[in-house]
Amino acid sequence: MNKIKVLNICVAGLGNVGAALVSYITSKKEEIKKKSQLEINIVGVSAKNKSKKRNCDISSFPWFDNALDLLSVNNCDVLIELIGQEKDLSYELVKTALEKKLHVVTGNKAMLALYGGELFKIAEKNDVLLLYEAAVAGGIPIIKLIKNNLFLNKIKKISGILNGTTNYILSKMQEDNLSFDEVLKIAKSKGYTSDKESDLDIGGLDAAHKLTILSTLAFGSEIDFSLNETTGINNITIEDIKFANQLGYRIKLISETSLIDGKINAVTCPRLIPKFNPIANVNGPLNAVNIETDQLQNLFLEGEGAGGKATASSIISDLYEIASNTSISSLGFSSLNLKKYLKFEHHNIESNYYVRIMTKDLPGVLSKITSYFNESKISIEKILQIPDNKEIIPIIISTHRIKSKKLMNAITKIQSLSFVMQKISIIQINQDI
Ligand code: HSE
Repeated sequence: MNKIKVLNICVAGLGNVGAALVSYITSKKEEIKKKSQLEINIVGVSAKNKSKKRNCDISSFPWFDNALDLLSVNNCDVLIELIGQEKDLSYELVKTALEKKLHVVTGNKAMLALYGGELFKIAEKNDVLLLYEAAVAGGIPIIKLIKNNLFLNKIKKISGILNGTTNYILSKMQEDNLSFDEVLKIAKSKGYTSDKESDLDIGGLDAAHKLTILSTLAFGSEIDFSLNETTGINNITIEDIKFANQLGYRIKLISETSLIDGKINAVTCPRLIPKFNPIANVNGPLNAVNIETDQLQNLFLEGEGAGGKATASSIISDLYEIASNTSISSLGFSSLNLKKYLKFEHHNIESNYYVRIMTKDLPGVLSKITSYFNESKISIEKILQIPDNKEIIPIIISTHRIKSKKLMNAITKIQSLSFVMQKISIIQINQDI
């Protein structure tokens, strides 16, 4: 019979995810042991406020007001960091834990995207693991899939929806015909995002943090957040969502990483996706990831990208990986073998574009606008002028493939015309995700 392996863990941070983790480990202790020969013991917990009401019972675990004191619990094997600060306490805690030769499990994508380069080296030097399945796409087991199952494939491209909040906002605007601000309020009331997090979510930075980790796993690139090109959903209006729908598309915040001419093309931006594409039908707070390799055309995963239970599921899988004592390192690659890549300038990619121009309804407007497209040799695919009894009307144009730099030349000129009444909306159209 296999010997029972004991893993003693300390948990720093008892928000949604920390509480779900503690509750799962406590209630499933015997099941876990029976199935995996693994006994997980919680030997210390820490959070800001001991008496806060939580969905877990922490009364039987040693409590520490200061998370750094968890590092002095002498039988601790794994420190679980769920505080989620970009640097400060989270970073200090993780760095010190690794230096003290404790394994670390974290869901902190911002910290890894910005300081992971250094932290993974420290983990390797001290012969411990720094695992992060929970940091990318919550409950979707994307990290282990790339690190284990696909490690010997050559990854061509990873693309998908990596932020649940923005996907919820865009889907809800579409479904209920609501404005961005109205839905943002609902997203906050449902706990998908908070005043503190919403800039990272809406600005696309949270997705870009996750994409940084995926670029490293996929291409063995040094962790480098500055390789990302990021545009959020702040400027997407309900009008854009409606017109996209009329043209046969949904608007989604898509993150994509690939190697082009030996450079990393890591982009997060809103895109129009044809309605028949599976990714266009990933709605609400769900995430999805599509992977293309030399062996697999499209490996598509969809699931909960956030939330206590889903994220706790990923943390438990990391504990199991640590207990399994595999020879696979934290990143799959030795951090000493990671390569420095340059950034591919995304404006050099040709794409179709959606353009919405709000103009006064006057004679000659359409011909003036199209003359600028013509002058810049931009080929128009479709053009819609929506009749309305209002003074300002939308002109919707979809272009054939064009580099954004060239499109922007024409747009800058059109924007300065006296009859153009609002900032022109431009969104990339994706045919090939
Ligand atoms: N704010 C994140 C999201 C949570 O909305 O996806 C999980 O990283």
